[in-house]
Amino acid sequence: MLLLDFIRYHQHLPGTKTGCNEGDCGACTILIGELQNGAMHYSSFTSCLTPLGNVRGKHVVTIEGINLSGSLTAVQSAMHECTATQCGFCTPGFVMSLTGFCLSQKAATLSNAMAAIDGNICRCTGYKSIERAAARVAQILEPRNGTIPAQYAANTHILPDYFINIPDRLQALHSTLEPAQDVAAQPIGGGTDLYVQHHDTLKQKALRFLYDQPALKGIRQEGNTCILGAATTVADLMASPLLQAYFPYLSNYLKKVSSTQIRNMATIAGNFINASPIGDLSIFFLALDTTLVLSDGVKERELPLRQLFKGYKQLNKSPDEFITRLWFYLPSQHTLFNFEKVSKRTHLDIASVNTAISITMQYDIIEDIRIAAGGVGPVPLLLKETARFMTGKLLTESLIREAGFLLQTEVTPISDARGTADYKRLLLSQLFKAHFITLFPQLETAILIR
Ligand SMILES: Cc1cc2nc3c(=O)[nH]c(=O)nc-3n(C[C@H](O)[C@H](O)[C@H](O)COP(=O)(O)OP(=O)(O)OC[C@H]3O[C@@H](n4cnc5c(N)ncnc54)[C@H](O)[C@@H]3O)c2cc1C
Ligand code: FES
Ligand code: FES
Repeated sequence: MLLLDFIRYHQHLPGTKTGCNEGDCGACTILIGELQNGAMHYSSFTSCLTPLGNVRGKHVVTIEGINLSGSLTAVQSAMHECTATQCGFCTPGFVMSLTGFCLSQKAATLSNAMAAIDGNICRCTGYKSIERAAARVAQILEPRNGTIPAQYAANTHILPDYFINIPDRLQALHSTLEPAQDVAAQPIGGGTDLYVQHHDTLKQKALRFLYDQPALKGIRQEGNTCILGAATTVADLMASPLLQAYFPYLSNYLKKVSSTQIRNMATIAGNFINASPIGDLSIFFLALDTTLVLSDGVKERELPLRQLFKGYKQLNKSPDEFITRLWFYLPSQHTLFNFEKVSKRTHLDIASVNTAISITMQYDIIEDIRIAAGGVGPVPLLLKETARFMTGKLLTESLIREAGFLLQTEVTPISDARGTADYKRLLLSQLFKAHFITLFPQLETAILIR
């Protein structure tokens, strides 16, 4: 069962709204709290795509659950006083996303408050008034300093007092939980792909919940290798100090992936197995020459990610194999990485074309290079011929120009809702140049004028 149906039709809590049922509008936003190392950690989810099995042993917070007796919460007041609500249909979702921001460790800035509502759409209020409400919420958080967010929220009318006792209540609940898994059932990570495609049929199917399996979580370093659990979410990637150290612009790349709510739910394995030619994580990890570890429950095997995609939505794996983890070599100090994505709108949109590059230099010579590109073929592509052509050569504008012609021979985009084939070829060409403009600014003028 979906969490949204459970909330509305079993718990009879109609404040959480049903809108698009596809994760796109944010009307169904709730908060999910879980104990992590003894402390509560709350994230916003779209309940329309969340299987009930993914919230076992967690604190599900609906709009009714944040109400104070006799007064509005600080977030509700901000929305009300800034006239940030008209018909009110989207308002519970906005309030929950902003309340989630209050419970996060993020700095109290307007841009962080606005980022927290990047998955919420309003069809009738002007966004300026919502922006003013977000600014007011950020202001309320300013004096927080080092106080634990939930504690500060309870003290400042952001949340009711009962939140303080939630850790003890969850602790008690945990000892009674028996994980039940049907190994023959349909594996599900965050559900953000499966429920969009098979919303109704999935309700009848047995599911195997991978999202919370401890063996599939975590990001760690072993020597010069980075190992990630298959159920690591996009939000986990963004929050990882290890990845931030090796990819300083990581959050700039990943904030282009879906919305805050979806990033809290979407797993890496789900992105690969979804096999979309424009999967952002597929492109990101292809450029890092990532290796997957697959298991059928008895034995494991390794498979380079570049060999996973056989054809459109066809995978080089048996139906009973699932991804347990993935690994890649951490970039050396001579390796540069960049990710580019163009979509019809900046946030909450899939790519028209996306691309990532990993390039290792020995002085001005390209020692090793990998270029991944999405939206320009039936599968996420690694442009091997272009990489072969560039390897061992001096990096010059003319090399980039020649490589730009060659890469066009490796792609076969089609015209669809995200653009014509010609437009996608042009986009790829420009994004390829953008990699070099970003990573080698000294070449910028020469590349731009041609
Ligand atoms: C509103 C919205 C916006 C989105 N925006 C983007 C975007 O900007 N960029 C982008 O790339 N994607 C986007 N997506 C697609 C989706 O969120 C991602 O592909 C996500 O990574 C899927 O992960 P999941 O865990 O939710 O997958 P699920 O839906 O749980 O599963 C997807 C598939 O993977 C399989 N699977 C899951 N885990 C495993 C495993 N460990 N081993 C084997 N099979 C497994 C499932 O059986 C299923 O076939 C968006 C989706 C929505 C709803
Ligand atoms: S109903 Fe639109 S995001 Fe869930
Ligand atoms: S107030 Fe009507 S949809 Fe936002």
